Amino acid sequence: MLDDVIEKLKKEFIDKLKEIKDEPSLLNLKGEFIGRKRGKVKDLFKELGKAEPQERGRLGQAINSLKTFIEKSLSEKEKEIKSKKVKTDSEDYTYPGFRIERGRKHLLQQVMDDVMDIFLKMGYHIETGPEVETDYFNFTALNIPEEHPARDEHDTFYLDYEKGKDKYLLRTHTSPVQIRTMLKKKPPLKIIVPGKVFRKDEPDDTHSPVFHQLEGLVVGEGISFADLKGTLITFLKALFGDDIQVRFRPSFFPFTEPSAEVDVLLKGEWLEILGCGMVDPAVFSEVGIDSEKYTGFAFGLGIDRITMVKYRVKSLRYFYDNDLRFLRQF
Ligand code: PHE
Repeated sequence: MLDDVIEKLKKEFIDKLKEIKDEPSLLNLKGEFIGRKRGKVKDLFKELGKAEPQERGRLGQAINSLKTFIEKSLSEKEKEIKSKKVKTDSEDYTYPGFRIERGRKHLLQQVMDDVMDIFLKMGYHIETGPEVETDYFNFTALNIPEEHPARDEHDTFYLDYEKGKDKYLLRTHTSPVQIRTMLKKKPPLKIIVPGKVFRKDEPDDTHSPVFHQLEGLVVGEGISFADLKGTLITFLKALFGDDIQVRFRPSFFPFTEPSAEVDVLLKGEWLEILGCGMVDPAVFSEVGIDSEKYTGFAFGLGIDRITMVKYRVKSLRYFYDNDLRFLRQF
């Protein structure tokens, strides 16, 4: 008799489970059949006392296995309901889309790319070097003597690290890559070096402890100052337009001789944007290049400076503040 009741209850459960579509009704069904205090399965166990003593063991097992069956079915149903829920949420094709903001190159990178493009078209190759340099590459090999003011703690970020005789520092210009390249490759050379450089400057409208340079180096037979001038004037016209007025001013760098600084005329004002000169024979001899046979020129452009001039930006700080209201204009 109890066998029939067990069988009937199982059928009843299966039928009811089929109708279940959401979590609340699933919980109700759970309570109805295997609730702790009441519940149809619990009631069955109570019936057990009325059965023949020799039948109790078998019937008890039958009720237990019904209970396990119900528990398993309920938890499978629960999983099914939950997975459906996630699916329907994520597949609502009528939901308005999210707008993904597209980034853009920082203005300084745009100008760096434009400048590199011009030189690449003139046949230059790109070289790079480390931002952490030794004082040998940054100063000594470039003919910058011990007592030169640029080496002062005041101007240079020295690292708390020494190896052998080498002091380590954040490079103060891209010129050390001239040395690295000449040690690695034989002339003729025609290279540009884009990169970050560092100086211990208080930030203000025209100074920043980090800024950007593009170095240039040409080494070959019969390279003259006229080549240097022609190259830089061609470059400046390509960047600023044919009407730009350019001025070469005599200057001094320990690694070039003669040396010059170049200004451009904008709105009646001469603005300095680069340093340059013929490679000093002392530098050639340091890297083992025969200065009887080869000559060369080098230049270093201030990318931040050029960007300020070209886009009429009044302060360097705008480049580093990361204010989107500024950056989005370009
Ligand atoms: N390295 C120099 C500077 O940072 C610029 C320069 C480069 C000058 C190459 C001459 C030749 O001021």
